[in-house]
Amino acid sequence: MGDPVLRQVARRLSAAETTSTETVRLIADMVDTLHDYGGIGLAAPQVGESVRLAIIEIEGGPTRYGQLEAMPLTVFVNPEIEVLGTESAGYWEGCLSVPGLRGLVERPQHVLVRYTTIAGAAAELELQGFAATVFQHEFDHLDGKLFVDRMTDMSFLSFEREYERFHVETD
Ligand code: NI
Repeated sequence: MGDPVLRQVARRLSAAETTSTETVRLIADMVDTLHDYGGIGLAAPQVGESVRLAIIEIEGGPTRYGQLEAMPLTVFVNPEIEVLGTESAGYWEGCLSVPGLRGLVERPQHVLVRYTTIAGAAAELELQGFAATVFQHEFDHLDGKLFVDRMTDMSFLSFEREYERFHVETD
């Protein structure tokens, strides 16, 4: 946080760029970073590349936010989100670009994602609950937005230690 690249609206990848060697290399770099730091997703601006590309990998299983469906590592090129329905819910979010902090963010809980695969094909994915929050957080990075921008009550911004101590039980 503080690096201007995280605040830029990233540019779309062309069809030729999507399947290029440079993009393959960028994705490999992002996968390494995600696995090194741990986490569910990473967007290209977080490794200094202002392009509309993100990766998400969900281990699945029981979490404090309920049962989470596993999703193998997937690459999303030029993703777009459409909100379906009016339900929203708040989760404590963290971010590799905002280390050491957690914040409570309310987001829509039913969304449709349209994106291009690394093979260049059009695809879509419907998501509900915590998964919907995860995708919105990642794709916000492509518009220069961080989770702190989405907070409506800054008294729910917390260091990780205080989050564990004071807020975990009240999730
Ligand atoms: Ni993030």
